[in-house]
Amino acid sequence: MMTYPKPIDDQSYLINSSNHKSLQQTAKTDPNNFWLDIAKRLEWMNFPTIAGNWQFQKPVSIKWFEDGLLNVCTNCVDRHANVTPDKTAIIWVDDQGKTPTHISYAQLFKEVNAMAFSLKELGVKKGDRVIIYMPMIPEIAYAMLACARIGAIHSVVFGGFSSESLSGRIQDCGAKVVITANEGLRGGKTVPLKANVDTALLQAPQVEKVFVINRTSAHVPMVAGRDIVYVPNYAQVVTPEPMNAEDPLFILYTSGSTGKPKGVLHTSGGYLTYASLTHQWIFDVQENDIYWCTADAGWITGHSYVVYGPLANGATTVMFEGIPNYPNPDRLWQIIDDLKVSIFYTAPTAIRSLMQAGDEWLETSSRKSLRLLGSVGEPINQEAWEWYFHKVGNENCRIVDTWWQTETGGIMMTPLAGVHNLKPGSATQPFFGIQPALLDDLGKEIDSNPAEGNLSVKSSWPGQMRTVYGDHSRFEDTYFSQFPGYYFSGDGARRDADGDYWITGRVDDVLNVSGHRLGTAEIETAATMDHSIIETAVVGFPHPIKGEGIMIFAIPGAHVTHSDDELKAIIKQTIRTQIGPIASPDAIHIVKGLPKTRSGKIMRRILRCIAKSEFEKIGDVSTLADPTVVEHIIEVFSAKK
Ligand code: PRX
Repeated sequence: MMTYPKPIDDQSYLINSSNHKSLQQTAKTDPNNFWLDIAKRLEWMNFPTIAGNWQFQKPVSIKWFEDGLLNVCTNCVDRHANVTPDKTAIIWVDDQGKTPTHISYAQLFKEVNAMAFSLKELGVKKGDRVIIYMPMIPEIAYAMLACARIGAIHSVVFGGFSSESLSGRIQDCGAKVVITANEGLRGGKTVPLKANVDTALLQAPQVEKVFVINRTSAHVPMVAGRDIVYVPNYAQVVTPEPMNAEDPLFILYTSGSTGKPKGVLHTSGGYLTYASLTHQWIFDVQENDIYWCTADAGWITGHSYVVYGPLANGATTVMFEGIPNYPNPDRLWQIIDDLKVSIFYTAPTAIRSLMQAGDEWLETSSRKSLRLLGSVGEPINQEAWEWYFHKVGNENCRIVDTWWQTETGGIMMTPLAGVHNLKPGSATQPFFGIQPALLDDLGKEIDSNPAEGNLSVKSSWPGQMRTVYGDHSRFEDTYFSQFPGYYFSGDGARRDADGDYWITGRVDDVLNVSGHRLGTAEIETAATMDHSIIETAVVGFPHPIKGEGIMIFAIPGAHVTHSDDELKAIIKQTIRTQIGPIASPDAIHIVKGLPKTRSGKIMRRILRCIAKSEFEKIGDVSTLADPTVVEHIIEVFSAKK
């Protein structure tokens, strides 16, 4: 295995050989004081006197800085607008390649206050839920921060989700206000955001007001009395709402192995402390850095590392509306040169697709401003890592492969650029204060190295989610039941002889497609919403660009007369309507039956073997209700390949 040794001269990094060991020691032996000291990086109205107060046994309860009082927006906006008003907070790069827009902290203050004022005028109060369904335009950050300012709980829904998904989320969190745009613009195509909202609200009539931001010149139908074109009123300053550290900041929906998506709830003080700390120390963000994370604000990475972390740190954060290969696969590299980006954070799926486009697309840029690269969202294969290191970073940049989840709020494992040896594909070591454990299937901790097991965490950290919105027992059941006393991530991992971690992927029925989480059950339910399909089973299979692709085995109804191709088109369309284009299947096989046990449980393990063409691993099928079905599926699969 190739390793890239830690820097000999590491003192230019914020975390380096001089301070790393002592920080690690304090975080371990005196976590209360460690975290209270870290909390000083925020501005508090009441500084907390205790750090963590939590238990992972039922009833699960997690609190951080519980007697602290603060406002998240003040921390991300006001204090920098006061001290460094002219510093650029956000550089916005649009889809079409117009001149980038620089938004200073002073201007951010004005914009956020204007939005907060308008929300207040609508009657939005502390604790109310606001849905944000918008493109990657600066207004999405204004909307999030404006909610934080007045104490409203935002829930951002990624613009690639369908009206059905949007509606489910609106209903689940009981939002009364939606903020959207007339249209989105991505890769030269328009996304009918407002039209999707209109459809979604047919099933969610409790929504009283819809704010519409005009991103394009298109006119969209407006419902009188409900829909309002947003016009900022810059004359107003809104007093920030004092928030307890444990008051909710946002809900973000994410897929699990069962049921509908869960509303992951994050609170104010702990989340911001953790997002801010991890952002600064892991990306080594210093005074003059131009930092760019390519994630959409609709995902947790966008929350923690486009908006909250960077702005809490008074950094300059780039927001990109477009996609990596539009108009050409050198778009990201051009932007890096144009803006002199020094820190760049993206997903393996983007790296792989740009790698596939060819090295010639790197020739139109030098990327010499870069000094640190990051990866997130899925395991990065060695080939993609090496390309990122040698070609994109010209061997000048350390790579931080950051493992974390929507639930963790911030990065949990990563090499630190100034401290650790890099191993392509390994997230290496836990961050300060994080105590991972590998558990065997019976829940016993494996202490020795090397080891492989279920990746869990032994003690709480400030960025941890607090509950599933409206369903605390689902929170307990999902994360704390299988291995009592631990937070179970749902991932498997391997620890090598040096004690470095390698994430091996999900061990539950969750797929990771292009770094996006999708539950197999969710896709199965969506696919059967059309009456011509009576049952489906969904499995993942290795995909060269997406990491994991979606394969569906579907059984049509007995009297259905459609051809297989028609059925496939129906399934694709139904899934796009129910979930959105991100869940569009990569392969569909129309079959007569599925491998089921006598009690009716689908043996996905067998389908996974078929999907990988690993027929020899299928093993004994005699316990199936109908063993002949396996041969039939293999035949269909092999014929359609
Ligand atoms: O399976 C892990 C994978 O992404 C999952 C979390 O997905 P989500 O909540 O959408 O958050 C994505 C962004 C943090 C994890 O359970 N994952 C995330 N980062 C890595 C990863 N797998 C391997 N290596 C990573 N660096």
